[in-house]
Amino acid sequence: MPFGLVSAWNKRRRSKSQDHSDPWIYKPAEFWQLDDQKPLAKRRHGSTVFTLKEMEEATGSFSDENLLGKGGFGRVYKGVLRSGEVVAVKKMELPPSKAAEGEREFRVEVDILSRLDHPNLVSLIGYCADGKQRFLVYEYMPNGNLQDHLNRIGEVKMDWPSRLKVALGAARGLAYLHASSDVGIPIVHRDFKSTNILLNTNFDAKISDFGLAKLMPEGEEAYVTAMVLGTFGYFDPEYTSTGKLTLQSDVYAFGVVLLELLTGRSAVDLNQGPTDQNIVLQVRNTLSDRKKLRKIIDHDLPRNSYTMESIAMFANLASRCVQINSRERPTMSGCVKELQLIFYMNSKGLGMALHHTLRMS
Ligand SMILES: Nc1ncnc2c1ncn2[C@@H]1O[C@H](COP(=O)(O)OP(=O)(O)OP(=O)(O)O)[C@@H](O)[C@H]1O
Ligand SMILES: [Mg+2]
Repeated sequence: MPFGLVSAWNKRRRSKSQDHSDPWIYKPAEFWQLDDQKPLAKRRHGSTVFTLKEMEEATGSFSDENLLGKGGFGRVYKGVLRSGEVVAVKKMELPPSKAAEGEREFRVEVDILSRLDHPNLVSLIGYCADGKQRFLVYEYMPNGNLQDHLNRIGEVKMDWPSRLKVALGAARGLAYLHASSDVGIPIVHRDFKSTNILLNTNFDAKISDFGLAKLMPEGEEAYVTAMVLGTFGYFDPEYTSTGKLTLQSDVYAFGVVLLELLTGRSAVDLNQGPTDQNIVLQVRNTLSDRKKLRKIIDHDLPRNSYTMESIAMFANLASRCVQINSRERPTMSGCVKELQLIFYMNSKGLGMALHHTLRMS
């Protein structure tokens, strides 16, 4: 399907197939083992099973004061467990027609997250499956999601070093998923976006929402799907036009988040005309031109927090991540290395400027 047509789609689409012979379709964990694969990692955490009563107690019967946000899956509440641990409880609220898809996403989330362990992935503490009710219990992230901060909902305006730290943390999380180190099979997140980057007290980034994640069997570069899943604005154009899902689809979405960090704009702005709604189309031609680049830098970025050199390097990385041809995009481990260098160059440049100012005064 051509890229342009995707705008007419719903925000998110989900596969309905339950075919157990297809490695891309959700299967219970015991079916995951592919013939020539290493055994999958054992569950590390996330296996605590809660009762409905415990969920009600934790969230004050899902009171509005505890509401943290609402997404496509349902509402998310702040809660306190009997142990005193503060958590986020995601309650599945889907119409009966979508219950089967919701159940699949719920299981994928539990299966995948409980096998992963990385400082840049949100931890799943447990779940509740009581009758038809489903809840996921996560570690609580006090600074909410990245998009709210960029859209000026958060009180603290993020300076350039904190944005670089978020980009680096998210890159490390994705590189870990893609490298297959813990699960034994590389994982495509498929729904990477700024609302799925959560921030802790130190503004460290953790990736959430693995319900659409897919295992990428080794030796296979792509999987062809009939149904394109994800969120509009972050879709890899190659994936939407050919149905070919690759690890590089996450790299494209990562590039979109880099552009959000640089400009403070949303991935999609429906108030703009059809050719200007998408952030990639808006800024693609300005990223390699320093003069034009200055005009798109987020006005909320404190001027004394960045060097133009680091902005130019960051814009260059973002423009390669959002290349239409997926082979021209860097890998996530390549992005980690470049962002480390950009962070270092920025600190060094600012340190030199400070040194210069002190000598002049
Ligand atoms: N572990 C958490 N700690 C703190 N806040 C959270 C946590 N998980 C989710 N939230 C908040 O709840 C909001 C809703 O999350 P949810 O994942 O349901 O939807 P979304 O990511 O915004 O959108 P979509 O469903 O389209 O992916 C998030 O945007 C975030 O602000
Ligand atoms: Mg989310």
